[in-house]
Amino acid sequence: IRHLREAGDLDAENATLILDTARELARLTGGREVKKLPTLRGRTVVNLFYEDSTRTRISFEAAAKRLSADVINFSAKGSSVSKGESLKDTALTLQAMGADAVVIRHGASGAPHRLANWVDGSVVNAGDGTHEHPTQALLDAFTMRERLGRLSGLNVTIVGDVLHSRVARSNVVLLSTLGAKVTVVGPPTLIPRDIANATVCYDLDAVLPASDVVMMLRVQTERMNASYFPSAREYSRRYGMDGARLRRLPEHAIVMHPGPMNRGMEISPEVADSPRSTIVEQVANGVSVRMAVLYLLLGGK
Ligand code: CP
Repeated sequence: IRHLREAGDLDAENATLILDTARELARLTGGREVKKLPTLRGRTVVNLFYEDSTRTRISFEAAAKRLSADVINFSAKGSSVSKGESLKDTALTLQAMGADAVVIRHGASGAPHRLANWVDGSVVNAGDGTHEHPTQALLDAFTMRERLGRLSGLNVTIVGDVLHSRVARSNVVLLSTLGAKVTVVGPPTLIPRDIANATVCYDLDAVLPASDVVMMLRVQTERMNASYFPSAREYSRRYGMDGARLRRLPEHAIVMHPGPMNRGMEISPEVADSPRSTIVEQVANGVSVRMAVLYLLLGGK
């Protein structure tokens, strides 16, 4: 494949190849002393971020540098975007600088698809509006496979603000491609009507005992009004993951969160900091998975 614009760009074979490559790259570069591989020497990766990010931006930068690529970090804040420059003209500027890959985060759903029409290099979606975040889904799948040994047949419960979540959308597509069974749980106002490849449930307590993985989502209050979301306290009581709910999960089950978290709303500090939580591992795995994506898209040697 040339681009990674959404999870649907990956069939099971390609997705598994990325996960296997990430594992091998983690083995080669991991440990206390992080090693650099020469595989993308002379190639240029541009990180084009129109929206804020901590984890994704830093891990794409670390991934490209660990593969010895040249990295250009572009943030819309402080650029000519503030003077009204369009995405197309920004893309043509990057094209003139010889970008081999452009990693884009943008507030508009579909921006990576448009960008792919304007640049010769590979486009990687680092989160577009409420649409998709495919490398987050890959690092989540990687984390599940490392912790639980498989993906096929796993019961994965995705909880909360599914409606606004690009993480949920990419996870539903990728996990069903890889044979997991996905249930989405949340208030009816925060579950999309048209969700395919997932079972819908509105009662979190009913699904906990059969869940192998519970993935909590950030409540995206910036994208909603009171009709979606009655009160933080009520939300937390019905859909928050706290110590009592953690104890209702099977012993092997893990709790995930893509970050950033609203501690005390969708997840309690007790759960976020517990050994059953994979939140910090997810961040570390994100570097290996993004290395694998860049390596495979750019045909690293
Ligand atoms: N999970 C995630 O995309 O986090 P950032 O917004 O910090 O990149």
